[in-house]
Amino acid sequence: MRILVIGGGAREHALCHALISDPAVSELHCAPGNAGIAAVATRHEVDALDGAAVAALAGRLGADLVVVGPEAPLVAGIADAVRAAGIPVFGPSGDAARLEGSKAFAKEVMAAAGVPTARSYVCVTPEEADEALDAFGPPYVVKDDGLAAGKGVVVTDDLESARAHARACDRVVIEEYLDGPEVSLFAVTDGVTVVPLQPAQDFKRALDGDAGPNTGGMGAYSPLPWADPKLTDEVMETVLRPTVEEMRRRGTPFSGLLYAGLALTSRGVRVVEFNARFGDPETQVVLARLRTPLAGLLHAAATGELADFPPLRWSDGAAVTVVIAAGGYPEAPRAGDPIEGLDDVAAHDGPEAYVLHAGTALDADGRVVSAGGRVLSVTATGPDLAQARALAYRSVARVRLAGSHHRTDIAARAAGAVPSSPQSPTIE
Ligand code: AMP
Ligand code: GLY
Repeated sequence: MRILVIGGGAREHALCHALISDPAVSELHCAPGNAGIAAVATRHEVDALDGAAVAALAGRLGADLVVVGPEAPLVAGIADAVRAAGIPVFGPSGDAARLEGSKAFAKEVMAAAGVPTARSYVCVTPEEADEALDAFGPPYVVKDDGLAAGKGVVVTDDLESARAHARACDRVVIEEYLDGPEVSLFAVTDGVTVVPLQPAQDFKRALDGDAGPNTGGMGAYSPLPWADPKLTDEVMETVLRPTVEEMRRRGTPFSGLLYAGLALTSRGVRVVEFNARFGDPETQVVLARLRTPLAGLLHAAATGELADFPPLRWSDGAAVTVVIAAGGYPEAPRAGDPIEGLDDVAAHDGPEAYVLHAGTALDADGRVVSAGGRVLSVTATGPDLAQARALAYRSVARVRLAGSHHRTDIAARAAGAVPSSPQSPTIE
């Protein structure tokens, strides 16, 4: 199988890492990729938001499958253009990707499907926003309706900050605050059959102890030893199947990766958000544990053949990923610094530990340099979370990037590395 992956972050590197180890894959291409992906896939330049250009590239390469990583190309309708060219694509149509592209649309679908989520108002004017903020009270949750590259959500106790964010957006969703630990559950679907992956948890705040600003994600782990073993079944019944069914009923079937961001509140599971693609950094740990060859799974979803696909196989072990971020991330990341120690990880810790590249590039001398806010995602597996975590941090310590920072508490509580309080044993 010849595969073209669209995107160039750690998620796409994780996808390429899994795809290249699938014996069914004969050629792997990635556009645009990054310095790490270059080691496993042939890189191509393409405007990922230009459907005709992506379809033409896929056609030229003779691709049997196109896998679209990020949300912006999906919302722009890239998958429609590739599908129209007769090439199977893993990723929803532009209409179906609205589940991520518009928070108001996602709320509407959830309401129609009876999916539990935070109560919410869609507001266009400042007066409507004020009314909604008043109705819910603090903490305030204000979400830009559209795609905002991880910067669209403000959760604050400060009414003025909440109002300011509402005014800065054209259309906002203001909703009730959900407390409780967050879980990410991904499902692969062809629009009819839904196959859940294993749950993971990510760490959104920049600093240890969930302090500091929100980021794209500073680390993740899987499995969740503290979670109810029936969680996946419950989310399948109450969230994933009804949502896929509702999208099909509307004539805009969702095929690809449906990402349910969940809050486990004292009143039950609630959807925090849907994404229309693999999450980053959760993908790094979920795929690290998947034993079923990935290409066949994604191809079956792309071609409507998931019903006949054998049950997924998983490692019994654990995976942890730790993101190394550039100095200044998330406000003003610095770029262009050389990265050293990558070979040491491979030599001493591989293959259980490996470095996935997020924002990297090659400089004129062919050295790997930083080129983004999140630079690397150091991923490790082990028989349990404690050992996977220890190895991940051992590998992180081998990597040198001037000014970089990372969290030191990824998976710490879940691995039993720090005592958990009896009242909230599960909150990360
Ligand atoms: P989103 O982009 O929707 O994932 O939101 C980013 C983050 O904001 C989530 O991961 C949560 O930590 C937080 N958040 C979003 N919605 C809520 C909510 N209703 N209550 C509490 N926190 C929320
Ligand atoms: N891990 C959060 C996201 O991918 O949106």
